[in-house]
Amino acid sequence: MGVITTRMLKPDADGVAAAADLLAGGALVAFPTETVYGLGGDARNGRAVAGIFAAKGRPSFNPLIVHVPDLDAAQSIGTFDAPMRRLAQAFWPGPLTLVVPLAEGHGLSPLVTAGLETVAIRVPAHPLARDLLAAFGGAVAAPSANPSGRISPTTPAHVLAGLDGKIAAILDGGACAVGLESTIIGGTPLALLRPGGLAVEEIEAITGPLARAGTAITAPGQLASHYAPSSAVRLNANCAQAGEVLLGFGPMQSDLNLSASGDLVEAAANLFGHLHRLDAMQRPIAVAPVPDCGLGRAINDRLRRAAAPR
Ligand code: TXA
Ligand code: MG
Repeated sequence: MGVITTRMLKPDADGVAAAADLLAGGALVAFPTETVYGLGGDARNGRAVAGIFAAKGRPSFNPLIVHVPDLDAAQSIGTFDAPMRRLAQAFWPGPLTLVVPLAEGHGLSPLVTAGLETVAIRVPAHPLARDLLAAFGGAVAAPSANPSGRISPTTPAHVLAGLDGKIAAILDGGACAVGLESTIIGGTPLALLRPGGLAVEEIEAITGPLARAGTAITAPGQLASHYAPSSAVRLNANCAQAGEVLLGFGPMQSDLNLSASGDLVEAAANLFGHLHRLDAMQRPIAVAPVPDCGLGRAINDRLRRAAAPR
């Protein structure tokens, strides 16, 4: 892929229209969602989808999430049984991705699902994402807008740092509110495939207890080393050792704190941004313990992968 100029598009009607035109022309546009920035391409256009894999340097057997404006649009590409429909009605738009069987005549490039019989679908809540989906009028395949294996971007600057010169544009929506990728549910029986920005407890209040993810599903978010900063990461640290920078949680001395008041929602929103900033200091990163409940489960999942041997 040759080097192109990556345009920054303003969060207004012109910016959204320009982003939609680029998508329609098969180009790649990073756009904000409430979870993290997505790297969007037309899900029906095989060249656009192939371009997503190339820009990220992502192994092509890893399937992408398809973004649509509502449940009706979702049902034109996926088949929803009653429990899945209940989840969609309860939590869409929002930070939840549902993996369902592909619908007849879905029209998606087979690269999107990497040859699987299922498709991961999400209806994002971010107003700019919704405006973009409405203006484009089709399904948008979008993984997180970072080079494969790196920390997910929660600001336009993060996207630019990883993908400048590789994508046509970035729709500038400022910082993402949730800051963790969506929670992914799928399989029979229903299983948690990836903890994320919607707490599992909220989902289980509707579905009852979820099964553990089967080992058959290989998703990049489930590889041991993922979301990785360049620097080494050490978990459950109560203080920094010589040379380390400390990522704190709760009231404590630290270089950066996920949430000084111990608020897990604030911590989730800060997680990737703080990791990006500490990583830029090019020193080993020590991380304070985070409680393993609510959004803390997803935060700890990402931290374990950031710390895993590579
Ligand atoms: O919040 C999010 O989910 C963000 C925003 C942009 O929507 N997207 C995101 O996409 O995190 P990505 O590609 O980084 O992660 C998608 C995950 C991967 O672990 C992938 O393997 C899994 O979803 N996935 C996609 N299709 C699947 C399928 N049919 N079955 C199982 N897992 C699937
Ligand atoms: Mg990702």
